[in-house]
Amino acid sequence: MISLPTPPSRAPRRHRPSTVQRALTTSAAAAALAAVPGAPAVAGLPLHAAAPAVATPRVVPAPASLRALSGVSFTLTRRTRIVVRPGADRAGTYLAAILRRSTGYPLPISRTGGTAGAIALSLTGGGGGEAYRLSVRRDAVRLSSGTPTGLFRGLQTLRQLLPPAVESATVRPGPWSVPGVEVDDAPRFAWRGTMLDVARHFFTVAQVKRYIDTAALYKINVLHLHLSDDQGWRIAIPGWPRLASYGGSTAVGGGPGGHYTERDFAEIVRYAAQHYMTVVPEIDGPGHTNAALASYAKLNCDGHAPPLYTGTDVGFSSLCIGKPVTYEFLDAVLGRLAKLTPGPYLHIGGDEAMSTKPADYAEYLRRVAAIVRRHGKTLSGWADIGAATVPRGSIAQYWQPAKGSEKGTETARAAVRKGARLVMSPADHAYLDMKYTASTPLGQDWAGLVEVRDAYAWDPGTLLDGVTDKDVAGVEAPLWTETIVTDRNIDYMTLPRLPAVAEIGWTPQTGRSWNDFRVRLAAQGPRWTALGRAFYRSPQVPWPAR
Ligand code: ACM
Repeated sequence: MISLPTPPSRAPRRHRPSTVQRALTTSAAAAALAAVPGAPAVAGLPLHAAAPAVATPRVVPAPASLRALSGVSFTLTRRTRIVVRPGADRAGTYLAAILRRSTGYPLPISRTGGTAGAIALSLTGGGGGEAYRLSVRRDAVRLSSGTPTGLFRGLQTLRQLLPPAVESATVRPGPWSVPGVEVDDAPRFAWRGTMLDVARHFFTVAQVKRYIDTAALYKINVLHLHLSDDQGWRIAIPGWPRLASYGGSTAVGGGPGGHYTERDFAEIVRYAAQHYMTVVPEIDGPGHTNAALASYAKLNCDGHAPPLYTGTDVGFSSLCIGKPVTYEFLDAVLGRLAKLTPGPYLHIGGDEAMSTKPADYAEYLRRVAAIVRRHGKTLSGWADIGAATVPRGSIAQYWQPAKGSEKGTETARAAVRKGARLVMSPADHAYLDMKYTASTPLGQDWAGLVEVRDAYAWDPGTLLDGVTDKDVAGVEAPLWTETIVTDRNIDYMTLPRLPAVAEIGWTPQTGRSWNDFRVRLAAQGPRWTALGRAFYRSPQVPWPAR
């Protein structure tokens, strides 16, 4: 267990403002050092300076550029306003909701007036995508971006500069000080995703929203939903009612399962969009399809429906490649998802098709790619698709452990040669369902144990021989749920590893170091507690004392 450094002795200083001021300045300077990407960790730094508490800038993912302004801070008061310039209304409403809840301050949103004493949000028209600028000075907080998306990402940085109690669902005493900073930030990769497997166990709309809340804090922008597998079918499809009513009626271990109605799914899409997250729906095939095969006998080559399956084996099911009804089914399902999903991608699975002959697999991919194209979407699939048809511009998701899986690496390279870009989810780094240690009560270990450092210390641009940055669309951390049932289970496996993968996707490689990350990560612990998230207290991270 790594113990926290002892804070400087405060007792004699408490009543001597000039000394307190000096202590603050020193602490701010140390904090600036801690926040400089690549700088050594500041081992002796206390989490909070002497009162008044001004949090040190410890942001995850680390911004591309963050300059701490020594001795400068902005303090939120009962009189603080949120000033929104044209186009920034939504960002203002979002920020006000978070701040009002915990500060109890009115924080009126105003479209007019000066920025003095305010938090000012503006669309600059300059810069694109997710880039933003954040300036915290004594007189005001100013956040600007060329897009509402960038404003939203910048607000996540601002949240993390406030004291952890800002995340509380009830009014807390404050003080609400923000350390002075100049942040100039933009992501390394456009795709920074997480996947939730709602097939092995079903998660309600409310649970998915809660997961989106967690992920948004770390600037995750893709929510991949694994909607079907051997153990469950989770989305209602018109004309194919038994997929959901029967195929969705159970789960791993034999629980009651569940499925999303179209309205449920639309609500997830809406909530994700509110958090500037693209939903990527996955219908796995030709393997991982027992729930569909059990629901409709006609989908089986022999015309007999297998029983529902509630175990955890993989590789035993396959759609019937030669039957026209297979493609009627796929057209109905993918067509419906294309309509329900505003994002450009349909994920067609394609992994672990061990019960499909290679020639049949190739035929299946050719047909499914045509269906995806006909519905106006871009194909995404597990990188196994590299062995078959991969339309140019597709996304291939690398998932095998990076160590010792030459075949997985070869299919990924083949996908790149065919014009796909990779989303990197190496199981021995990015899988959120791997156990942290041998004694982790949840999860699996087929890809090894994945402690926080393993989740953090890899580079998607150099992990695979023959794959470089330009071949990589981004990163994704999948949470498979064979052993995951509750929100607490999700939290425990996700935190702290999802923020680790999020930083890999966001922060320039030259701005990342484990020693710096673990200190910034430690500062997230009290935030998760305030948010009601039950996280894994990894001994690799110097968490503040409880
Ligand atoms: C996978 O883990 N089979 C994608």
